[in-house]
Formats: sequence, C-alpha cells, structure tokens
Amino acid sequence: MTARADRADCLEPEVPPSPRDYAAAAQAKLDRSVWDYIAGGSGDEVTLREDRAAYDRYRLRPRALVDVSHCELSTTLLGRPVSFPVGIAPMAFHRLVHADGETATVRAAGAAGALTITSTFASKTLEETARAATGPLWLQVYVFRERKVTESLVRRAEAAGYRALVITVDTPRMARRERDLRNGFSLPSYVRPANLDEGQRAGLHHGRSGSSTLAEHAERHHDAAFTWEDLAWLRSLTSLPLVLKGVLTAQDARRAAELGVEGLIVSTHGGRQLDGAIPALDALPEVVEAVPDQCEVLVDGGIRRGTDVLKALALGARAVLVGRPVLWGLAVDGADGVERVLATLRAELEEAMALTGRPGLDTITRELLHRSADFPYHLTSNDKEMA
Ligand code: FNR
Ligand code: LAC
Repeated sequence: MTARADRADCLEPEVPPSPRDYAAAAQAKLDRSVWDYIAGGSGDEVTLREDRAAYDRYRLRPRALVDVSHCELSTTLLGRPVSFPVGIAPMAFHRLVHADGETATVRAAGAAGALTITSTFASKTLEETARAATGPLWLQVYVFRERKVTESLVRRAEAAGYRALVITVDTPRMARRERDLRNGFSLPSYVRPANLDEGQRAGLHHGRSGSSTLAEHAERHHDAAFTWEDLAWLRSLTSLPLVLKGVLTAQDARRAAELGVEGLIVSTHGGRQLDGAIPALDALPEVVEAVPDQCEVLVDGGIRRGTDVLKALALGARAVLVGRPVLWGLAVDGADGVERVLATLRAELEEAMALTGRPGLDTITRELLHRSADFPYHLTSNDKEMA
C-alpha cells in the first residue's frame, strides 16, 4: 500500500472525523489537478478565504436555563420537509473523486433527509440521480447560448421529478482560476458531463498547460448575454419554482422577487468566480431584509461546522448549503463518507442549539450573535486547509 493510500485510510470509523481530517484524507487520495480544481478559487483566492473567515468574526451569546432536552432541526424548503437545514450545493463531476459519483451523493443525502442540488455538469445523468434520490432534489441549470439545450434540461428535470430549478447567475463566464490554468485542467477520460450531448461535450478532455478546458467550454457555451428579460422567458417555460444562485445584493434580490423567483442562494460560488466579492455571510442580511416573506434565502461558502450553520441561520438564512466537504467525504468513502459528513454537521448543529439555549430553529435570531471589531478577518493554517 502506498503512503498516500495509508493516509487516506487513516479515518477510523469509530473516531468522529473533523472536516479537516476529511480534507486531508481526500487530498492524499486525489490527483493534484483534481484536488486543486475542487479546493481552488479564482484570482488571489481572497473571497475563498474570506467566505470562510467571515464565520469566525462572529461569537455566540448563549442563553442559560432553557429546556434543551429536545432540539428540533426539521424544517421545510419550498414546501418540502427536510430533516435539518443543511443541503448539498451543486457541484460538477462527482465522478472525479469517486466512481459512484452523484448517485452515491444523493443516496447519502436521502438517508440524512437532506436536500440535494444536482449540477448541470453532473457526471451521472439527472435521471439516474433522480432514481437514486429519496430526499428532495433540485436541478442547477446553466443557461447556454443554445437555448434548446437549456429548455431540454428543464423538460427533463420536470419529467424526472425535480422539485425546483436553481439558476446560477454568477457565471456568465468562468473566472480565471490559476491553479487550473497552471495544471492545464481537463476531464479524465472516465468523467463526462452526462447531461449534455456529444456536441456540447466536445473539447473537455484534452487539456494543455496554461488553459482549463472547463473554462474554455464555458466561454463557448455559457450565455454571457443572459439578462433579467431572459429570466422572464425561463419563468414562462415551467411551473417549477425558480431559485437564483449567486445573488449578493438587495437590488438583485428585489428584482428576482418581482419576477416570481421563490428562492435565493447568497453565494460567491465558493470563491471560484468574482475574486474580491463580498463574503456570502456578509451579504446575507441585506438580501434577507430585501425580500421578507417573498423568497426563501439560503447561503453557502465556507460552512464547515455546526456553529457556522447556526450563525448563518441567525443572520436570516432558512438553510445553508455545503460544497467541498461533501466531495471530501465522497472521495474518502463514497456514500458512507458523505453520510458521515452530513451526520457530523447535524450533530454539531444540534449541540450548538442546545449549548446556546436555542432548541427550535425559530429561536435562532440575530441577538444570538456578537460581531466584534477585535476579530478582523484572520487566517490560521487551519482555515487554509479547510477553505
Ligand atoms: C462548485 N460550485 C458550483 N456551483 C454551481 O452553481 N454549479 C456547478 O456546477 C458548480 N460546480 C462546482 C464544482 C466544485 C468542485 C466546487 C467546489 C463548487 C459552487 C458550489 O455550488 C457552492 O457555491 C460552493 O462550493 C460553496 O462553498 P463551499 O461549501 O465549497 O465552501
Ligand atoms: C465550477 C463550475 C462548473 O465552479 O460551476 O467549477
């Protein structure tokens, strides 16, 4: 057995692993270019780091002598029950890290009673993923220049039983991600965008140093001219609820609500798009305040611990999404790894609710938080590993 495999196998089932353990074990298992594609961000990775560090600037103000013998974590998202307010963010190509890919991820989410959002760039077809799902499932949709491709994704999602469409609005093009450019990132032969046809798949597999085939693909196919007027077209296409992902301002939140959008995901795309963008957690309050009672607002980026979830809920999120930790779990141990990542987050959230005297989600409010000027953005080596 190689040293790398040794390291990856060092997660003892009986020891609850921390996210950092999973990150280290996944990194030991994966090729450098795959690890970098997942872990990396754009530009100087300022937003990647700050998305995470934003959580550490808040401290918690616990209330004592509250009956916390039972904490209730279940809620609904767009009318569907979930067992706790943590879902899986849409991420491309799960087969990069495990042969079972998205079907393993969605099985684990189902077992945990959690929401899954499947990416347009999934490496299993959206129908295969839907068949493996037992929990709520939404489809993330990129709007392509070839509108028929987008329309066909919408129709397939409806037919397969997806409950909402998540339109990602922060990616008119893919940002410069220097790790991928340096590595000449391209898809290995065993990974393909299963939802797209041959014409749309072309060029993703043959990389060269200095370019990322994924970025080139986005350049060719993503519709950089997609605007609010076109969103009305999408709205008229389907009766499925629409969710916009990548909204960071009150103005855009209001505009979305006016067009009948039912959910918003406050997100910097995990620091992979506009570098220097406001951290998602800092944008959350203005978005929540802009659309009270009109949209369900979720947030993602840098959430690694139950206390992070608690802080996001206190700032008004209805739920949060996690990205990279899910891929770490999948890389290390397939569906079981994803289940353990979700179980740990759930246990940590439940504990944080008990220890802050907030036994119900409706008791998690802004006054739980203390934001101290004494805690500016800071980076420890742990944050770097966990980013
Ligand atoms: C993503 N993300 C993403 N978002 C999206 O709308 N469509 C996509 O296909 C992808 N693909 C993707 C791949 C990988 C490898 C990563 C890491 C991320 C962004 C994702 O949905 C989410 O916004 C962030 O990952 C959340 O941040 P954390 O939890 O990873 O820090
Ligand atoms: C990414 C794309 C696929 O972040 O959204 O890699």
